[in-house]
Amino acid sequence: MTDIKDILVLSGDGIGPEVVPVACAVMQQAVAAHSVEINFSQALVGGIAIEATGGPLPEATLAKAHAADAVLLGAVGGPQWEDRPMDQRPEKGLLGLRAGLELFANLRPALLFAPLVEASSLKTELVEDLDILIVRELTGGIYFGEPRGVTIEDNERVGVNSYVYREHEIERIARVAFDLASKRNGRLCSVDKANVLEVTQLWRDVVIEVAADYPGVELSHMYVDTAGMQLVRAPKQFDVVVTGNLFGDILSDVAAMLTGSLGMLPSASLAASGKGLYEPVHGSAPDIAGQDKANPLATILSTAMMCRYSLALPDAADAIEAAVNRVLEKGLRTADIYQDGHADGLRLVGTRAMGDAVLNALEEGQGHPEQGQEAS
Ligand code: IPM
Ligand code: MG
Repeated sequence: MTDIKDILVLSGDGIGPEVVPVACAVMQQAVAAHSVEINFSQALVGGIAIEATGGPLPEATLAKAHAADAVLLGAVGGPQWEDRPMDQRPEKGLLGLRAGLELFANLRPALLFAPLVEASSLKTELVEDLDILIVRELTGGIYFGEPRGVTIEDNERVGVNSYVYREHEIERIARVAFDLASKRNGRLCSVDKANVLEVTQLWRDVVIEVAADYPGVELSHMYVDTAGMQLVRAPKQFDVVVTGNLFGDILSDVAAMLTGSLGMLPSASLAASGKGLYEPVHGSAPDIAGQDKANPLATILSTAMMCRYSLALPDAADAIEAAVNRVLEKGLRTADIYQDGHADGLRLVGTRAMGDAVLNALEEGQGHPEQGQEAS
């Protein structure tokens, strides 16, 4: 019997509407091999939602996201909305989804595909076989703390944001990170700024308390400035990194460049219920939007994470990841991972051609080209 999954697709802004359809096609084909059919529906978030409805997160979108089995998001934002008040910007749509769906656990794997070792900003020996998982707390910290805003005091403007973590918020993200570390190489590094910020001293204390339940995981602690430095000095020392919302935002962009490009990094944002939102780590890239230049691989890899974490289809996830690797081995590169100095055997392709190549590689991997064609 064919199982049907409801996936809500939020393409958003900029390159979102280019990379998302390509990823949906790949995913549909990958799951067809497991007798699963996907029912994709669309909704608005971000700038496109502001244009259509006046706000970045229409109620209908949140309601559909609640009802879906999982959500796939492209990107939000663009220069045309940057002058709007903070709570009416496209980014608020994404933050509202994260809060509304209680997606507190953000998984950002920084995995180096072997064919891209030359595209990394670091020397080959430092990044070869790199496989780090950043676990970022996503619904708390300074992104959501109150009070916040800009007021006038003594005739001058004063800006305030509050870095707040409650014990239970730290404990639940720590448990996610320990669980993941125990299934990987058993090492967890918690990143904080406990030498200066009380809230992160609490973070450290709670992580240490949780560690008592995970004797098999080796826990270490690092200040965030050191972690930034160590990520570019000796990144392979890390297995799983757990940190708060803001530090995780910053460190995951750093980790992305180690793998060659921000265009390669997928992410999963998970709730305690298992509900998940999947999105590339990169933004809307307005400078290249509409030109068929964007790298769709981060979004394609995000659908692999969806198969693994929300749809219980680990084999489909493996198949998508293997297809991406095969396409990179064949030398196909979008502009962000094309290395002029090492261009022998490489072919510069656009978004759609890259997507088609992954589809073909998936068919080859599945060994049923005819069946694949029918499914797409
Ligand atoms: C990310 C992005 C978002 C964030 C923005 C778009 C709100 O940078 O997902 O890393 O800061 O979390
Ligand atoms: Mg970011």
